[in-house]
Amino acid sequence: MNPVEELNNLREEALRELAGAEELKVLESLRVAFLGKKGKLTTILKSIGKLPQDERKETGALSNKIKKELEACIKEKSSTLKASSLEMKMADERMDITLPQHGSVTGAAHPVNSVLIEICEIFISMGFSMAEGPEVDFEKYNFEMLNFPEDHPARDMQDTFYINNELLLRAHTSTVQIRTMLVQPPPVAIIASGKVYRKDADQTHSPMFHQIEGLMVDRAVTFKDLRGIVRILLDNIFHKDIPIRFRPSFFPFTEPSAEVDIGCTVCNGAGCKMCKDSGWLEIMGCGMVDPNVFDSVGIDPLRFTGLAFGMGVERIAMLKYRIPDIRMLFTNNMRFNLQFRGLR
Ligand code: DAH
Repeated sequence: MNPVEELNNLREEALRELAGAEELKVLESLRVAFLGKKGKLTTILKSIGKLPQDERKETGALSNKIKKELEACIKEKSSTLKASSLEMKMADERMDITLPQHGSVTGAAHPVNSVLIEICEIFISMGFSMAEGPEVDFEKYNFEMLNFPEDHPARDMQDTFYINNELLLRAHTSTVQIRTMLVQPPPVAIIASGKVYRKDADQTHSPMFHQIEGLMVDRAVTFKDLRGIVRILLDNIFHKDIPIRFRPSFFPFTEPSAEVDIGCTVCNGAGCKMCKDSGWLEIMGCGMVDPNVFDSVGIDPLRFTGLAFGMGVERIAMLKYRIPDIRMLFTNNMRFNLQFRGLR
């Protein structure tokens, strides 16, 4: 076979194979096979020097022409293959943006927390600031300095979780009254919220629950101030002008003391199971700071008076949302919890 024939055959072979190449990888291996350093066409080009003088020119020109033709063909093929592989990839990854979305579950504040935050915001709007105390506290802050007599039943191991002789899980947030007055001279207007612990468990009692405590001490704080604050609080949590009554009561750390009742949120005072037919629901304890408490923290009871109050957050959540059993608040059933999302 003369070199020209050989070259033409090679050209046809190359063009045929290139036409059949469907993948970039195949295309590249064809390029190597024909035009690479040891490729078929390269080999011919290299041997041109050995040809007789009269054949060199024609063969050389033809080889170069074929080389250019093949290079152009590979270049073109390569860009078509690249374009179609991109198209395939896009078709593959195509998404239908009109499809409905999977519903995503978002969280929500626990009903106890949302009531707690709501109450704190009401007090903050009245100018109270937030105070804090630990859940494990000294028994003297929980009882002694709050004027609990030595033999008060709440001091009993039966009722309170003791850690040792000195320490206990606080049974109320009233501990924060003492802690605040020990470090902050009057005027004081604070609220404190948090967990408290008692050995008690039934439909309306839980061994751990939340309280919000309030304390205001200044030169002429009166029971009238207490009534006004309680009125603003309950108007905001429940509804404007909800019936309220102050019922005389007793707490060791306040004198006089009262419990506050609201008109039953279920029967509006007509009498039902919820209010045990009384038409009233007990909502919080309060009173004027007992002089003995002022003495225990070194505040002069002749110069200062104070008001104090305390309430159970779970109880308020139960009355507000008519939850019949406190334990529902602690089972963490999401279907139960999510009912209160966005409610206030
Ligand atoms: N500490 C009381 C309790 O846990 C609630 C309470 C009543 C707090 C009267 C007060 C108050 O500050 O003045 O039952």
